[in-house]
Parts: sequence; structure tokens; C-alpha cells
Amino acid sequence: FFVNSSEASARKIPETLFGIFFEEINHAGAGGLWAELVNNRGFEAGGQNTPSNIDPWSIIGDGSSLIVATDRSSCFDRNKIALRMEVLCDGQGTNVCPVGGVGIYNPGFWGMNIEQGKTYKVVLYVRSLQSVNISVSLTGSNGFQTLATANIIAADISTWTKAEVLLEAKETNHNARLQLTTSKKGVIWFDQVSAMPLDTYKGHGFRNDLVGMLRDLKPQFIRFPGGCFVEGEWLRNAFRWKETIGPWEERPGHFGDVWKYWTDDGLGYFEFLQLAEDLGSSPVWVFNNGISHNDQVASAIIAPFLQEILDSIEFSRGDSNSTWGSVRAAMGHPEPFHLRYVAVGNEDCGKKNYRGNYLKFYYAIKQAYPDIKIISNCDGSTRQLDHPADYYDYHIYSDASTVFSLARKFDHTSRSGPKAFVSEYAVTGKDAGTGSLLAALAEAGFLIGVERNSDVVEMASYAPLFVNANNRQWNPDAIVFNSFQLYGTPSYWMQHFFTESSGGTLFNSTLQANSSSSLVASAISWQNLEDNKNYIRIKAVNFGSNTVNLKVSIDGVEPNSFQSYGSTKKVLTSSNLMDENSFKEPNKVVPVESQLEDAGEDMEVILSPH
Ligand code: AHR
Repeated sequence: FFVNSSEASARKIPETLFGIFFEEINHAGAGGLWAELVNNRGFEAGGQNTPSNIDPWSIIGDGSSLIVATDRSSCFDRNKIALRMEVLCDGQGTNVCPVGGVGIYNPGFWGMNIEQGKTYKVVLYVRSLQSVNISVSLTGSNGFQTLATANIIAADISTWTKAEVLLEAKETNHNARLQLTTSKKGVIWFDQVSAMPLDTYKGHGFRNDLVGMLRDLKPQFIRFPGGCFVEGEWLRNAFRWKETIGPWEERPGHFGDVWKYWTDDGLGYFEFLQLAEDLGSSPVWVFNNGISHNDQVASAIIAPFLQEILDSIEFSRGDSNSTWGSVRAAMGHPEPFHLRYVAVGNEDCGKKNYRGNYLKFYYAIKQAYPDIKIISNCDGSTRQLDHPADYYDYHIYSDASTVFSLARKFDHTSRSGPKAFVSEYAVTGKDAGTGSLLAALAEAGFLIGVERNSDVVEMASYAPLFVNANNRQWNPDAIVFNSFQLYGTPSYWMQHFFTESSGGTLFNSTLQANSSSSLVASAISWQNLEDNKNYIRIKAVNFGSNTVNLKVSIDGVEPNSFQSYGSTKKVLTSSNLMDENSFKEPNKVVPVESQLEDAGEDMEVILSPH
């Protein structure tokens, strides 16, 4: 493997090359990255219908002690459903309430993670025509172990009243629930019940441990919020950004009908932009262009959708005096967000109205915001697009051999025209299981091809990013979690080998191997801002089952650099190609770093199988 490290033949890698793609799939956000513990906080999961679907709320008590129903009496116009709880028992008399009282509980998303010493903020809206004494408690899953409790005692709450309590947990329970109970006869209405840990990433509502996994990838961009989630099976269930902003209590929530679950939309358009800012990534906003899986808006009447998207850009970028910029400012972010990329739909290219709709969005956005880069859903890798675009989407899900062989995919694509955005790639099917070493190796080979072709491929992201282990709708995924545990799949760790690539320098290099070789390699350099030194990284994937002795020659390195600075090697492998990580063995397949003893301008490196 010959590496020419002279400046003259080197090429700058785009700053944006490697990023992440967040989709609300597998409860990635609701019950995942978004730290809200209550599931269905407004009792709205059935939509605007009554009786509504209050699942997973459940009742503490029986028919002789309380009657629970929903009605449309909420003080919030966009989510009218409230819970009406008629307590028939009392502290004394003929129908005495059971010990601990009666009421309702919410188990969160397969159990709430409550940790000793941490504080949780519970906010709820309540109304009653009588005085109330309500216990707000975090308990174990059967209600017996009280982790924290406080009382809301009020004489007059005949109009809707916001109540707030801080609960400090005195014990840990990863499968806890939130209870609202009373032993006092009367009728109480509840609405918009939230429980959040006080400690979230930058205080912005994101689960610290999960954001940490993202931050470690140094993502240059974050594509959001889907995926199919953006499209919906039907337009009526698509992601509509205006329904996801403003005070959380006023958000209607929606049923994501592709992945088949309700989201309260606490993680809305604003929060995605905030997450991008917190990660130092460029937001890539994928919006619905009037097309779902099953219905489409004709291009002639697309104007309302178009206006909605222009408004979304103003919300993100407009100054705080603009109509939508002022809404953003009121949410606590007077400075604009740096939105520079938008994608017109997701996987919609083949649909009848796509080109017509796309062109309307393209010209209107370019006119208002000439610097915004627009991404088309149509694949321009094999033939030129028939419409203007800055980028074209390329998605690839396939078996390991196919994905590995696609390392060469962009070698022969046109060097002019829109750049490629590989916005979803992964090995899927039996080669991948729920995240195998084999999948990661094939993807690593593919990404080396992406890196080598980064004159035409400017952005790439793995998909999907997250899976809540209790709701595996799509396998494999990069990060697996439950209420309190998490681990990266080999595909997650594979991405760590590329964290210095974006904005680095790609060296001209030649791999002398036969054409059927299961070896790919690249060499890059980058400057470490902490010590101001330049580093070289050579990446090689041995996709085959034979050991390879790789001879590496690096031209043009300052004499003695290897001796003065030292070198390390990092290896991702395992004894079995199908090995996976798990909650039990989170580090079975992770990169192992060690000193590279004989590093030099000419060296021999042994690449074991896989
Ligand atoms: O990543 C999972 C799904 O795969 C995405 O929602 C969609 O874009 C693709 O089909």
C-alpha cells in the first residue's frame, strides 16, 4: 500500500463528510433521546376522539373506588382531551379508600429510570370543584417501593391550574412508574403530565448518555426527523413541524403511522435544531413535500405545503423580529439556527407528483434563501438528474458482500453535477442480525470508498441510529438502549474510525492487490487542534478470511516523525464474524487500541482475517 503524502497530490475531504441521521423510529426519540419519562402525557394518544386511548396509563383501584374516563375539557385548544377521575371512596365513612389511595399511574416507556440522588421535575395540569390532596410519587413497577413522593394540596383549583413538584429519588429503580393518587372523594381532571430528570444534556431535554454516544462520533451534520417518519403512511399522520413547536403543553402530538406509535412531540422541530447546535453539527431538515406512502398533493395545489416549509426556514433562520423567528425567540433562542441544508421529501423520487412538487420547492427556496443547499430524492449516481439540485440522496441497504463491493460504487460516477449524499446506508438481513461484526466490516469498506470518492460524495450517514430494545422495528441499528443501559453495535464503533476524516486531507494512495481482493484501504491526515500536530491515519479493511501481510510505504513524511511522535493501531474484530454486542457484553466487538511498535515510512502490518 503506497501512500504519497505530498501536498501536491492530496485532496481536501469535505468538512461535512460524516454525520448522523436521526429518525423517530424504534422509539429513538419518544422513550429514547428525549428524556421525558411520561408516555402519552396529555392522554391524547387516540387523537382528538373520546374516549381517547390513554395507554399506557393504568388505574390504581377498582370500579367501587373510582371511575376514569376522558373528555374534551382541556384548557389547551390543540389537545382538548383531559382525564376525568371520579373518586368514589374517601378517607373515612362507608367506602374507605385502600391504603395508598386510588388513582392512575404511568409506566413510561417500558419503565422509568429513576436514580438515587437525582431530581425529577413533575409538571401537571389539574382541576377540581373540591379541594384536593394528591400524592405525586415515583414508585417501583408494582407501586410498592416509594422512591420519591410529594403532595399537591389545594383548596381552590376550579379552573385549570399548573402544579409543579421536584422529586428527589432516595433509591434507584430502572423500571419505575409515576403515580397520581388520592384518598379523597370528588372529581379531579388531569392533563399534560410531564416528568423529566433535571439533569439533561445542556439542560435541553436530551438524555445525557445517549447524546454522549452521538458526540463521540463528531457528527458534522444531523439529518432529521426521518425517513419514512417524515412521509407518513398517510399525509394526515406525517410530521408537520408547526404542530411540534411552542410550549410543550400545547403540542397536539401525533401518531406516526409508519412506525406505528404515538409521539407527544416533545422532541419537535425546535429541539432538533437545538440538538444540532449542541452537537456542533449542521442541521439537515428533511421535510414533507406533500407526498406520503399512500397519498399525494398535486403540484398545482402544493402552495400551502410550500408556505409551511418557507415558514420553517424562517423559524430557523429569521431574525427575532420576523414572524416565525419571533416564535423561535419566544422559545428561548433569539439567535438564528444555522440551517443550510434541506431535503425535499424522503424516498419519493418514483412518485407521480415528485418532480412537479420538487421544482416548486426548489425555486421558491432558492429565491428566498440562495445559500440553502437542496437535496433531491432522485439518485444521480447512474444518470444525470433531470432537475436542478445541490445534492442527490443515495440509500443503500443490502447484504454484506454487496455493500462491501460498493466501495467502488462512486469510482466511475460523473465528476460534475450535484454531489451525492449517502443519507442512509447499512448492511441488513441475515448478514447483519441485530448488529454483527460482518455488517460493520462491509460498511467500513464502503465508507473507505466514500472517503476516496469524497470529491463527489460529500455527506454520509448510517441508518437507523437508535433502537429502544423494547421496540425493535428495524434491525440493525447503531445504538441500542433501554431505560438505563446502552451500547454501540459494531457498526457504531466502525464509524469511530472515520471521526477525523471530515475536513481532513486524503492522500493519494495505491493498493497493490488483485482485483478480487477483499482488501480496501485509504490514508488521510488531519490536524489535531489540541496539540497542533498533523496526524496520519491509514485505514484498512480485511473483509476476507485469510491473514494479510500488508506492506505500507509512506512517501514524503518528515524523517524521524514516527520515532518522535509514536504511532498507535486500532483494531475492530472478533473471534466470530457474526459476533454482536449486547447489554450483557457491550464491549465484545469494540475497537482495541495499542502501540504500533515498528511504525515507519516502510512497515509491515498484519491484518488478521475479518
Ligand atoms: O432507516 C429506516 C428506513 O429506511 C427509513 O425510514 C427510510 O428512509 C428507509 O426506507
